Amino acid sequence: MQLIRGAIHHYPTATTQYHAGLQSFADGGLLIEDGKISDIGDFSTLKAQYPDAGIVDYSGKVIIPGLIDTHLHFPQTEIIASYGEQLLTWLDNFTFPTERRFEDETLAAQMAEVFLTECLKNGTTTGLVYSSVHKVSTEALFRAASARNMLTVAGKVCMDRHCPEWLQDTPESAQRDSAELIEQWHGKGRNYYALTPRFAPTSTREQMAALGELAQQYDDVFIQTHLSENHDEIAWVKTLYPECQDYLAVYEKYHMLRPRAVYGHCIHLSDSEWQRMADSGAVAAFCPTSNLFLGSGLFDMAKADEFGVPVTLATDVGGGTSFNLLKTLGEAYKICQLRNYNLSSLQGFYMLTQGAAVSLGLNDRIGNLNPGSDADFVVINPRFDPLSQLRIGADSTCEDTLFALTMLGDDRATVATYVAGQPQYQQQEV
Ligand code: GUN
Ligand code: ZN
Repeated sequence: MQLIRGAIHHYPTATTQYHAGLQSFADGGLLIEDGKISDIGDFSTLKAQYPDAGIVDYSGKVIIPGLIDTHLHFPQTEIIASYGEQLLTWLDNFTFPTERRFEDETLAAQMAEVFLTECLKNGTTTGLVYSSVHKVSTEALFRAASARNMLTVAGKVCMDRHCPEWLQDTPESAQRDSAELIEQWHGKGRNYYALTPRFAPTSTREQMAALGELAQQYDDVFIQTHLSENHDEIAWVKTLYPECQDYLAVYEKYHMLRPRAVYGHCIHLSDSEWQRMADSGAVAAFCPTSNLFLGSGLFDMAKADEFGVPVTLATDVGGGTSFNLLKTLGEAYKICQLRNYNLSSLQGFYMLTQGAAVSLGLNDRIGNLNPGSDADFVVINPRFDPLSQLRIGADSTCEDTLFALTMLGDDRATVATYVAGQPQYQQQEV
């Protein structure tokens, strides 16, 4: 039994839309037993109540739930920050050649280590992760995540056209491999599976139908794909699926519009698409650094609010330019500024934690620090360098501290990242 001490902030209540329900303890305690949180409150009260607990003292630091990155690509770790393209040429010139390397299980295992280390160093304890088209790379990722006991949602990319032949699967192999991976990993340990058609342009109707069958057969698996990221992509989908009224209708037709379906980007949706997203319980993953980097467009938070679509945040590494979700929130804020939408740091904090967990149906395990939840949390030093020490005072509010961190922070602010009660990342003293 361990009692973790620090300033604690989290959203205990489960609602899909952002609400003003932040719970804070200025000098708080988090009681950890068997990988779970068993109590939360004022440190002095908990210390008196549990005198036998070993104390880990993070006084002066901030403790928040582990951050949830709802869209990123593990094979793209090494092509992060590759210059000068928009989506479709970026895929051809950087992404596909690199993803080919993940047919090699040894390389995939090595890169999974690098990838998960980057996640943890930045306070991310759960990712919704795309692997490559290869089954072995998906297995390598699940194995590496399991070794660290990280709650992970991942899936094998499926694509059987409009990418190099050496990177294509088929409708049959995509269905077979995905089904085997579901049986092997979904709900096993802390792992969950996501059916992962890359996006409509790279799947034939036959492949979409094969994956649609699986979506119906396994109604609690996640679904992840890309939607309306780039104008050329959208025009392409129109020519490839002329029978569908719009881009979303392709996924709708193949039974992929439902709760636990997470659509990356959603930048250029029509009102009808927003409405159908809302009606279905699907989730929009806002990927600000990627959208700016690839010149894709400015996500419209006001539309998501108007229609009541849950929005989560995501790095979209390697289209995205940082593994750090607080930095990512800072870029989301700037995009919202250009759209005249006020994205407060507290709303963003909610989106990175409890909001994401509720949207994904995982809030009984992650996203909050409620008793009974898994003990996934991050210890942050808001005053991590001379500039942040100047800007952030010991008495700064949670909202102001978080805001400054989204603008100034990076992995230097991560003191430690705990996964199921164990410190899986600890910053080295310099
Ligand atoms: N659309 C299809 N594949 C990808 C990808 O790998 N990254 C991004 N940003 N968009 C995509
Ligand atoms: Zn992506």
